[in-house]
Amino acid sequence: MNLRSERLLLREWKDEDVVPFIRMNDDPKVVRYIATFTDRTAIYRWINAQRDHFKEHGYGLWALELPGSGEFIGFCGLAKVPYQAHFTPAVEIAWRLNASYWNHGYATEAASSALSFGFERLGLSEVVANSAVQNLSSRRVMERLGMSHSPDEDFNHPLKAEGDLLLRQVLYRIKARDWLAQ
Ligand SMILES: CC(C)(COP(=O)(O)OP(=O)(O)OC[C@H]1O[C@@H](n2cnc3c(N)ncnc32)[C@H](O)[C@@H]1OP(=O)(O)O)[C@@H](O)C(=O)NCCC(=O)NCCS
Repeated sequence: MNLRSERLLLREWKDEDVVPFIRMNDDPKVVRYIATFTDRTAIYRWINAQRDHFKEHGYGLWALELPGSGEFIGFCGLAKVPYQAHFTPAVEIAWRLNASYWNHGYATEAASSALSFGFERLGLSEVVANSAVQNLSSRRVMERLGMSHSPDEDFNHPLKAEGDLLLRQVLYRIKARDWLAQ
C-alpha cells in the first residue's frame, strides 16, 4: 500500500529505483554512519527483500518519490528488526535520503506518515529506531518525531564486530499512545 504525505509519495519499489538507489549508496556522505553494500548483487537482494517484506507484512521500507518530477529520493518506513537484541522482537522505523534532499524536512515528514500508518492502520503498540551513537542527523529525526532515548538501552549492534566505529548504537522508542496523543 502506498502512502501520501504533504510533499512525498511513499510507494513500493520499482525497477527504475535501482540506478538512483545505487548512486545514493555510492555517496560516502550517505553511508558514513551505516553499513555499506558489499556489491551490486547485495543491493538487488536488499530491494527484493523489501518487496517480500511488503508482501508478507503489508508494510515495509517505502521508496520515496517527489510527486510531479517522479524523482526517487530515498526510502523511509517500517520493518521487523532483522536481528536479536534486548528490545526485539520489535518493529523499527528507518530512513535514508539522497544527500541532495537533506535539510528539507523530508525524512521527518515521511517518517510521520509511516508512524501514523503503523499506529492507526496496523495497530502497532510501539516502534523503535536505532542509529550509530555519532549519527546526530538521524537522532534529530527521532527526536523531532517525539521518540525517546534512555542511555541505559544503548547496545552493541549484533551484526558489527568489536572495534567497528559503528558498533555502539542508541535506541529510541515511541509508543502508540504517545504518538496518538501528540
Ligand atoms: C538521517 C537523514 C535522513 C536525516 O536527513 P535530514 O535532512 O537531516 O532530516 P529531515 O529530512 O527530516 O530534515 C530536517 C532538517 O531540515 C531542516 N529544514 C529545512 N527546511 C525545512 C522544512 N521546510 N521543513 C522541515 N524541516 C526543514 C530542519 O531544520 C532539519 O535540520 P536540523 O536537523 O539541522 O534541525 C539523512 O542524514 C540521511 O539520509 N543520512 C544517511 C543515511 C542514514 O544515516 N540513515 C539513518 C540510519 S540510522
